[in-house]
Amino acid sequence: MKPNIKILATGGTIAGSAKLSTTTTGYKAGALGIDSLINAVPEIHEFANVTGEQICSIDSKDITDEIWLTLAKRINEIFSRDEADGIVITHGTDTLEETAYFLNLTVHSDKPVVLTGAMRPATAISSDGSINLLNAVRVAVNKNSFGKGVLVALNDEINSAREVMKTNTLTVSTFRNFEFGLLGCINDGTPEFYRTSTRRHTSNSEFDIDGLTELPRVKIIYGHAGDDEIFIDAAINAGVKGIVYAGMGNGSIHANAEKFLARATDQGIVVIRSSRCSGGSVIPAEKSYVDENFLDGDNLSPHKARILLQLALTKTTDRSEIQRMFNQY
Ligand code: SIN
Repeated sequence: MKPNIKILATGGTIAGSAKLSTTTTGYKAGALGIDSLINAVPEIHEFANVTGEQICSIDSKDITDEIWLTLAKRINEIFSRDEADGIVITHGTDTLEETAYFLNLTVHSDKPVVLTGAMRPATAISSDGSINLLNAVRVAVNKNSFGKGVLVALNDEINSAREVMKTNTLTVSTFRNFEFGLLGCINDGTPEFYRTSTRRHTSNSEFDIDGLTELPRVKIIYGHAGDDEIFIDAAINAGVKGIVYAGMGNGSIHANAEKFLARATDQGIVVIRSSRCSGGSVIPAEKSYVDENFLDGDNLSPHKARILLQLALTKTTDRSEIQRMFNQY
């Protein structure tokens, strides 16, 4: 019997439509519905009983916490009602890694959840959408995909939601993880896994979004030469609950910004040090950072650290507990 796979569509370039087959920018993302995407790849029916559902039709730069909550709740509902053996999500590539990490922390199932997308619109010559959708279904039905956390499958490669990053604005080989590499690849249509991501996820996650209609407000502030207090003051005045400082190197903070971030922690705002670097961990450094109660963001990108801090703040404001979460997820 073939497995049941649900495809949840959210828009993006994989559903993008342009006037010319040579156009790969300036098109309308999210123009095509889920039925068009499924009909374009009849081969997926060889592997699964496929049904589709349209969650939203957006350019993923416009993703919101509300859409994340809707998506995570719907996935948990599908699995708890045993409506599918695995889920594929079609998504714009611009924020795909953020949605993947959010779901990695909030879906409570070992069943496969696989995100895919495309860098070239559906109407382009050599569009990557159809093969990526077919391969995502192949990954979702593969028994080795169970228990691996939320997966990202594009360009014949399988990455972990926690580690993957969009690294190139245009090329189809954009999803990478410079430090740890791929989880696996899709060899002539067959998914092969070579390693796992060891951090807590999905069925082993403590985060529960069932009763939530919104997430705590957390902003990212990007450190730079000549930095100052302007954005930190604005964040404090806006009443944010957390700040992720994308610092230099090992999460280092410009002296002109540090005293204002310390003011934020004095007011109960949780401050995470992360890094502008695309690899490496942020670990304890200056004594002043410890004295000022800044927490260490490990090797999460600033935008993934923001998601973990949002979810952490739904459970606690205790800084040692939040640091534990950053050490575990
Ligand atoms: C988007 O993220 O929705 C547009 C870009 C893309 O999907 O590649």
